[in-house]
Amino acid sequence: MGEASERRILVTGALGQIGMELLRALSFKHGSNAIIATDIRETNDLEKMGIKFQKLDILDLEGLEDIIKNFKINEVYHLAAILSASGEKNPSLCWDINVNGLLNVLELSRKYKYRIFSPSSIAVFGSDVGKIALQNSLLNPSTIYGITKVTGELMAEYYHSSHDVDIRGLRYPGLISWEVMPGGGTTDYAVEIFHAATSSKKYTCFVSEETRLPMMYMKDAIRATLELMDAPSEKLTIRGGYNLPSLSFSAKELSEKIKEEILDFECEYIPDHRQEYANSWPDDVDGSMSEKEWGFSLEYDLDLMCKEMISSLKNN
Ligand code: NAD
Ligand code: SER
Repeated sequence: MGEASERRILVTGALGQIGMELLRALSFKHGSNAIIATDIRETNDLEKMGIKFQKLDILDLEGLEDIIKNFKINEVYHLAAILSASGEKNPSLCWDINVNGLLNVLELSRKYKYRIFSPSSIAVFGSDVGKIALQNSLLNPSTIYGITKVTGELMAEYYHSSHDVDIRGLRYPGLISWEVMPGGGTTDYAVEIFHAATSSKKYTCFVSEETRLPMMYMKDAIRATLELMDAPSEKLTIRGGYNLPSLSFSAKELSEKIKEEILDFECEYIPDHRQEYANSWPDDVDGSMSEKEWGFSLEYDLDLMCKEMISSLKNN
């Protein structure tokens, strides 16, 4: 990939929790003219950012090819997906969008030779992994979402080794951000809790207080994404999904940290069906391969993230 001005970037699923923040970062880095955002939903919100938007169902192969051809795309951030809790409600849709959507992006990259970012997730792991997931821990997920993510990682490795596709992936932990509400995942409680704390000051958490999961502030996740996409190809030995250095805290530790800023905040815990998905995931991940191969490290700890989340929500 050459100079910044030469990038011609397509973002799929751009209106989601990650997409909206990634668009801002890409636009800052490469200019809004370099980007076309797409999603199955409509929006007028991107006009003010100067970013072109086109409605696109990722399963529409012809529509996808038209955009790639017309805009001479050379980089795709493929974010269109169904997340864990929504996936369990509709496994067939989850498979279709997460696997066949990625297949469309991969197949066209053989012809048009663009670089791809395709996120994986800590949901690739299952309960046989134990508390800390290593890069090469077993991948035996118990959710359909996790199964689609393992499949996506295998497809990435295959298209890279057999068809020379330059695809890169990260196993994002639960991502915490304030701009856009998360879209039907299990880690959504760690975002909802901040919105509740800064408005009604009461939150009913849908996982138990001792539930501990790998998490990350969105700014670190966006930086990881951009750094991985800029890393020299020859340094990357993993194409499906790198574990990332992550935070690891329980729901109770999170609410206690919020209480340090919002003294009268109250949190109760009433686990629902999402507890089972959370229980199947590790408490933490070993992200040392990301540190070693492309130099990633975290900037936000729990304290800093909580302070920034609360002040951003209060000021917006
Ligand atoms: P999100 O649900 O907020 O956004 C996904 C977007 O995809 C939505 O805007 C939705 O409208 C769109 N979409 C759904 N079906 C589509 C279709 N058929 N065609 C086109 N667009 C469609 O999700 P997100 O949190 O932004 O996640 C983006 C990616 O990152 C996903 O692959 C997800 O699995 C992965 N990920 C997210 C997290 C997290 O905590 N947010 C953690 C791990 C992995
Ligand atoms: N945050 C995502 C979810 O809970 C994990 O991939 O579904």
